[in-house]
Amino acid sequence: MTISQTPVIAKAHTNIALVKYWGKADEHLILPTNDSISMTLDHFYTTTSVQFDAQLAADDIILDGIKLPTDGQQRIRQFMDLVRQRAHTDLFAHIETSNHVPTTAGLASSASGFAALAGAAAKAAGLNLTRRELSQLARRGSGSATRSIFGGFVQWHAGHDDESSFAEPLDEKVDWPIRMIAIVVSQDEKKIGSRHGMKQSQTSPFFNDWVKQANADIDPLRTALLKKDINRVGSIAEHNAMCMHATTLSATPPFTYFNGDTIKAMQLINDLRSLGLNCYYTMDAGPNVKVICLADEVDAILDHLRPAFGNDQLVVAKPGPGLTYL
Ligand code: DP6
Repeated sequence: MTISQTPVIAKAHTNIALVKYWGKADEHLILPTNDSISMTLDHFYTTTSVQFDAQLAADDIILDGIKLPTDGQQRIRQFMDLVRQRAHTDLFAHIETSNHVPTTAGLASSASGFAALAGAAAKAAGLNLTRRELSQLARRGSGSATRSIFGGFVQWHAGHDDESSFAEPLDEKVDWPIRMIAIVVSQDEKKIGSRHGMKQSQTSPFFNDWVKQANADIDPLRTALLKKDINRVGSIAEHNAMCMHATTLSATPPFTYFNGDTIKAMQLINDLRSLGLNCYYTMDAGPNVKVICLADEVDAILDHLRPAFGNDQLVVAKPGPGLTYL
């Protein structure tokens, strides 16, 4: 194991879950309550450079050109400690990370961030990890990062321990024209982050039913993806997202990520569907809506959304690649 003498730069794309991860069976190891399946997106990614340096007394972390204050660094430092432990080193590192998300997209995500950091830090530390091992490592930073190691459609196997919880590509080179339109209804910082929100949702009396439903959605979704059946893919993903969000409304105390524009977007998609277009919505831990559809219907969908949302609020994404080194 040799520590790299030059900076290692990794690039990872964000992903949107079609069957969601929403609940932890183990908070320390970040083991999820259920399997999840996502699509990695081409448009949104993070690049991260890591170099270990014997002169440093602590990790030096720069995020989008700004040095992170000490209290903002804890999650990254804890993650770097894991890498140091595995590489048997006590060296600290220069870490520089940039998020390439269209400034208006409001889709900045810990998924691409921790996937890129896992890739760059492991390689810089001289660890020679397989992609499965990288997905296990990224998981320790943020659950959704587990899936961002791979491109296309990806399944995260929940597992029951550190070893058995990892992601696996289902179809890395997606050869059919599935698209996701992000409707950016708000760029505000989320009030309840995903980590806190999923924990609070575990107080819902429906939480166990959510887990059952999510696990039951996995095989049908895999089949629908294999068959390239947009209507099955979309309807499973939409129903799954609504089941996830039902656990927020029924939590103690209750909360929701939706705002008025979220509901408006959902209604517009429903209208489009009754007009015969094949489009479905999904939402994560925030008010923005992602529309699952096919390339040849993107323009008609955008036309219908435009009176309500500006051009800068509508971003079209394709399936994207997994972790790469620059
Ligand atoms: C709604 O991966 O951000 O996007 O593991 O606590 O860092 P932590 O949570 P995070 O949660 C993502 C939740 C989600 C659904 C999903 O991506 O599957």
